[in-house]
Amino acid sequence: MIRIETSAELREVLGRFRADGRTIGFVPTMGYLHEGHLALCDAANAAADVVVMSIFVNPLQFGEGEDLDRYPRDLERDASLAAGRDVDILFTPDAGEIYPHGPVAVRVRAPGLEDRLCGAFRPGHFEGVLTVVAKLFNIVRPDVAVFGQKDLQQAALIRRMAQDLNFPVAIEIAPVVREPDGLALSSRNVYLSPAERASALALSRALAAAQAAFAAGQVEAGAVVAAARATLDAVPGVEVQYVELVDTQTLDTPAQARVGDAVAVAAFVGATRLIDNHVLDHSDNQVPWHDGDRAAGQSREPS
Ligand code: PAF
Repeated sequence: MIRIETSAELREVLGRFRADGRTIGFVPTMGYLHEGHLALCDAANAAADVVVMSIFVNPLQFGEGEDLDRYPRDLERDASLAAGRDVDILFTPDAGEIYPHGPVAVRVRAPGLEDRLCGAFRPGHFEGVLTVVAKLFNIVRPDVAVFGQKDLQQAALIRRMAQDLNFPVAIEIAPVVREPDGLALSSRNVYLSPAERASALALSRALAAAQAAFAAGQVEAGAVVAAARATLDAVPGVEVQYVELVDTQTLDTPAQARVGDAVAVAAFVGATRLIDNHVLDHSDNQVPWHDGDRAAGQSREPS
């Protein structure tokens, strides 16, 4: 694995790969890697010849009072995990490399889409995400870029940005990766105390309750959401920001739930903000991520 810190060197190295006819897969991250990120590397390796992972904690997507300063970082551990998953190039620019002229005057926004769901609670967050991803796309010029379904709104906005602004990149979305007990993997899980870790299971259990209601024939969005909400409200220490049924492409909120729509949730568990979602299907089995009989690190979405 080659480690690169500057855009100029990255462009030069990737230029050589491209000249050899090799395709480029890209996995943008903020580091503190877990199995969810590594599954994105697997998807990128399956889709392209050369895989670039970036690690950059993007100040532009953190609001005032958010966790920019204490966001977990461990570059050496990340580098060894990335190398173990066949990342070819690890790109670790600093803020001066990405924002050489200080705060950017020109930014990417998605009015009407960026201000719902998480965006309603994190003003400016998606402007920061879209702007840095646009810059990274222009630096890396990937053929394919892979993002996680856990960040459902981010995935929808990036897909839409690529379409609307004609970025010549295919966007792939990889499924949520969960612990055996259902907790969606997140770099922020490290903030949870053992008691909060137990309470955090309310999120995946809420999604399982929504799936169970839908599989039992409930299609009214309000009722599917209420099934999730009741589970969340029953757990002390969980402060819900939103639970919504959404179309994963448009982020619209349909009145009737359909296969392929997602139930999305955001909640504070103690001081830690967690998000999760589940794409509804017709499975009427017990949601398998609660049976605890699979190894950690697999995708846990019901099939
Ligand atoms: O999902 C993330 O880790 C970040 O939002 C991203 C896409 C790397 C942009 O900073």
